[in-house]
Amino acid sequence: MSDIRVYKNKDELVRQLSAKIRTIESNSIDERGRFTIALAGGSTPKALYEFLATVQPIMQWDKWHVFFGDERTVPPDDVDSNFHMVQESLLSKVAIPEHQIYRMKGELEPKESAEQYSQVLKDVFGDDRLPQFDLILLGMGDDGHTASLFPRTEAIHEQEKWVVAHYVEKLDTWRITLTPSVINTAHHIIFMVTGEKKAKRLNQVLNGEYQPDTLPSQIINPTNGELHWYIDDLAASELS
Ligand code: 6PG
Repeated sequence: MSDIRVYKNKDELVRQLSAKIRTIESNSIDERGRFTIALAGGSTPKALYEFLATVQPIMQWDKWHVFFGDERTVPPDDVDSNFHMVQESLLSKVAIPEHQIYRMKGELEPKESAEQYSQVLKDVFGDDRLPQFDLILLGMGDDGHTASLFPRTEAIHEQEKWVVAHYVEKLDTWRITLTPSVINTAHHIIFMVTGEKKAKRLNQVLNGEYQPDTLPSQIINPTNGELHWYIDDLAASELS
């Protein structure tokens, strides 16, 4: 099941998305005693994280287990680090137990970091089947990538590994990312996409031909879970 929700502006989107996260969190804790969430990096979700940290104090923070969908190969205090952004906007402001925050270690050798993160997933979710997150939050780049699944990279079609490190030619850097098989196993997957510069690509992803090698966001399709798109009017402006 997937649905597309369009909001008049980013503030309204953030408010509604926070309420949705609260619902998923509450149901997850009722059913499984914890809330496992993989957060998106980039710039779009910063406002959401800040809102969650300030206006949504009713979360059961002690039951949160926080992961990352992808990471840049930089140290955690680097301004380009996704962890750094999440730490500044959310983690430093709420009482999530430190040992329940699982950082992708961008400062390590990339392949070693990817293997280490796979082991973290096995430790937390059990190693007999694909890790099933309660919620995975994703962004979408203006080239249609998501997490660090960039166009024309083999990571899009990775079937064995749960986490991969790969050189992204377009960025001339290495990235670490969850693979589609892990992402698609989640109970809930939510894309948050805002701004006019995403509009054309978003229409291609949602309404265009299925071509995940050039539009990697299209590879995201939950096996049993739900897919939600939270977009603002600007990003929706070219939806046919
Ligand atoms: C990252 C993100 C990436 C992001 C998109 C959109 O590491 O950059 O995980 O997948 O969600 O690039 O980024 P913006 O939100 O900055 O447009």
